[in-house]
Amino acid sequence: MTRVVFVCLGNICRSPMAEAVFRHLVEKANLADRIEVDSAGTGHWHVGERPHRGTLRELAQHGIDASELTARQVIPADMRTADYLVAMDQENFADLKGLGPVKGTLLLFMDLLPEEGLKDVPDPYYVGNFDEVYRLVEQGCHRLLERIMQESHP
Ligand code: 4NP
Repeated sequence: MTRVVFVCLGNICRSPMAEAVFRHLVEKANLADRIEVDSAGTGHWHVGERPHRGTLRELAQHGIDASELTARQVIPADMRTADYLVAMDQENFADLKGLGPVKGTLLLFMDLLPEEGLKDVPDPYYVGNFDEVYRLVEQGCHRLLERIMQESHP
């Protein structure tokens, strides 16, 4: 099993969107028995909450199931068990690094989309650009699945 964990700050906007979109792709590719998908936040403020309504709206508009998403915080086991730990921005990346060694690959999400010239998935919690975030998340998730298939033949 290849385990993928997306990580943002609150686990209510960006990383749950990525989790739902990536799981959707994995299921469409008939890989659900080989790739496990999860997400978490570096912060604790929203633990137990459902995703932000902006994230839920984008997912609903694209016919993607969001029923299983509940915010949780990163735990040490994530560092030990994730094959791909995918940080949605540079701050998340640095925070994860600070938590200790990672078993798998620590990735910056926007490094999957170098043509965008961005280092961070913009945080819609502050600026509300959920449609732009969805566009980036969708493209990056396609790229990530290609990369995983190339690297690990899960
Ligand atoms: P996320 O967005 O990291 O994409 O889930 C945020 C959610 C909550 C907060 C910041 C960003 N907050 O400050 O509570």
